[in-house]
Amino acid sequence: MTTAASGQRFHLSQGGALCGRLRVPGDKSISHRAIMLGSIADGETEISGFLEGADALATLRAFRRLGVEIDGPRGGRVRIRGVGRDGLRPADAPLDMGNSGTSMRLLCGLLAGQRFASTLVGDASLSRRPMRRVTEPLAEMGAQIETAGEDTAPLRITPAAELVGIDYRLPVASAQVKSSLLLAGLYARGQTCVTEPAPTRDHTERMLAAFGCPVARDGARVCVEGGARLRGCRLEIPADISSAAFFLVGASIAPGSDLTLEHVGINPTRTGVIDILRAMGADIRIEAPRDVGGEPVADLRVRAAPLRGIQIPEELVPLAIDELPAVFIAAACAEGETVLTGAEELRVKESDRIQVMADGLARLGIAAEPQLDGIRIQGGRLGTDETTALIDSHGDHRIAMSFAIAALRASGTIEIDDCANVATSFPGFAALAAGVGLRIREA
Ligand code: S3P
Repeated sequence: MTTAASGQRFHLSQGGALCGRLRVPGDKSISHRAIMLGSIADGETEISGFLEGADALATLRAFRRLGVEIDGPRGGRVRIRGVGRDGLRPADAPLDMGNSGTSMRLLCGLLAGQRFASTLVGDASLSRRPMRRVTEPLAEMGAQIETAGEDTAPLRITPAAELVGIDYRLPVASAQVKSSLLLAGLYARGQTCVTEPAPTRDHTERMLAAFGCPVARDGARVCVEGGARLRGCRLEIPADISSAAFFLVGASIAPGSDLTLEHVGINPTRTGVIDILRAMGADIRIEAPRDVGGEPVADLRVRAAPLRGIQIPEELVPLAIDELPAVFIAAACAEGETVLTGAEELRVKESDRIQVMADGLARLGIAAEPQLDGIRIQGGRLGTDETTALIDSHGDHRIAMSFAIAALRASGTIEIDDCANVATSFPGFAALAAGVGLRIREA
């Protein structure tokens, strides 16, 4: 299986407003972790709100191939018969992670501690993404991992004589690396600790606690004990704020919009996009905040508002890392200049999101100047009258959806190429978006 783009195209007519209520699909990061922890837990885990997108399904299929019985997904429900910490079995062929960096990096840590060998492969985009950030610290723990090139998948993991806990300081703020090491740490002798340079999403830590395996936190340092056992549980997965972000931006930039996004996860390690948009002048209200199985959730009401350019605070970058392409569209519609720095990580996502967004914005007539670690965007008028702007998403789901919402403020039509990978994180995007007012057609 691969999730390579098949060339599906979005056609967008300009204008419109976003109104009504909408629940976007389940959180991708949490969906991956639910499958992983449920699989190595003792007893059953029942999940609702699971994201039936290609990335999370790649994780689900991988665990089936590792011998775990998993029912579903059906309407977001999944039931896992956990095999316990030592119950995984070798897969009979390489495990295909498709387009999913989270699957590959987290599984690399988890599989490094098994008594059998595994091979992890991915699509063309994933096979270009840096893996040394996980293989190097895992090797320090004693893991045996071979990469294809210097630094890239396929990854061949062979059984280690023993994994030993380490005390590791992350060179980049990465929840994927942190989580990979914590998962390996469950199989290591002694304690495994990770210190992050800036806060990153903490779903692994929260979910380990929900499975009865508390993670010790002391400031920026988190630690797990080797040998801990997990207990199956019930998990309700909130709607993904990363998917909601397209609508937060869309309703902010489209005059007359008034949209409520229901049951969105507002974990404080994910809400950078709300802080950035509010600093730009957005009208976003957090309604009915509540707690769902250890994760904070709320409804988000967003109404159109005039936006102004800002210097994006660097500490918000890891808290909004996946939402920055959508923020660039907000910046293009804002008055004045928006400046982003400290975001070089964007260059090693599913595409080089700094360059690809700058190219697309230029197509729409926006002055966007890419920098090594960010971008400068001058707000202006999107698109040229009576012509169609053709945007290449480079097979990157978040690029495709960002330019789709840009149409709300464009002066001409927009066509976006290579959109099949939207299904990695947001299956049904076009239909849901059309339902609240986006003038989108798929072909
Ligand atoms: C993710 C972490 C982030 C994010 C990715 C999902 C996760 O990556 O970009 O889409 O689920 O842990 P990094 O931690 O590498 O920044």
